[in-house]
Amino acid sequence: MSQIKIAPSILASDFGRLAEEVRTVTEAGADWIHVDVMDGHFVPNLTIGPPVLPAIKAATKLPIDVHLMIEQPENSIADYAEKGADRIGVHVETCPHLHSTIQQIHALGKLACVVLNPGTPAEAIEPVMGDLDQVLVMSVNPGFGGQAFIESVLPKCERIRSWIDASRRDIDLEIDGGITTDTIARAHSAGCNVFVAGTAIFGKRKEGEPPPGLAEYRTAIENLRKAAGR
Ligand code: DX5
Ligand code: ZN
Repeated sequence: MSQIKIAPSILASDFGRLAEEVRTVTEAGADWIHVDVMDGHFVPNLTIGPPVLPAIKAATKLPIDVHLMIEQPENSIADYAEKGADRIGVHVETCPHLHSTIQQIHALGKLACVVLNPGTPAEAIEPVMGDLDQVLVMSVNPGFGGQAFIESVLPKCERIRSWIDASRRDIDLEIDGGITTDTIARAHSAGCNVFVAGTAIFGKRKEGEPPPGLAEYRTAIENLRKAAGR
């Protein structure tokens, strides 16, 4: 299996100091920066769009992993690619022409990821496994950070991992939602090698207390790596 990677989700960062937060998690040892794009339709929450990406890109040299929780992603993939996404993830539930959307991402020179909600079976992506660079299994229902890990997605991860191993291609298997020092080892055992973590790295912000910084983020990332079993 590929090396373990930790992808902090900036959804849990302080948006008032976004560039600084990105610089700090980069210095703290993150592998990718995970950007959650929500449209208020596919998911109930609304976050950020293409104009914010250059500010993130300017603050780090790490790959920018864009998770599109939006309807009709094919209409805006080019914007995300142009503004700095390196990896573009589309939800299978939003893509009736999934194969074509993956081709669209590749034609823009970016790596293609397909994302599955907890209720979506692995079989939904089986026909396109040969075209993918990355698979993202949601371990919460998308929309918000800080939710509890859904254990029942683990057999799905095992199944996708077996397809990846059989393909002998270096496809990343990422998991997103409720990743903590408690849950990461089970996700790793089920075959995941990239771990998105929002709350577990940026912490829960408390009013009146100084914000966490480099030392806290470094410890959090290191603890996740240790808990995953390296
Ligand atoms: C949820 C997002 C996640 C979220 C993870 O819809 O896709 O990336 O930020 O947050 P935690 O790690 O707090 O569950
Ligand atoms: Zn995400």
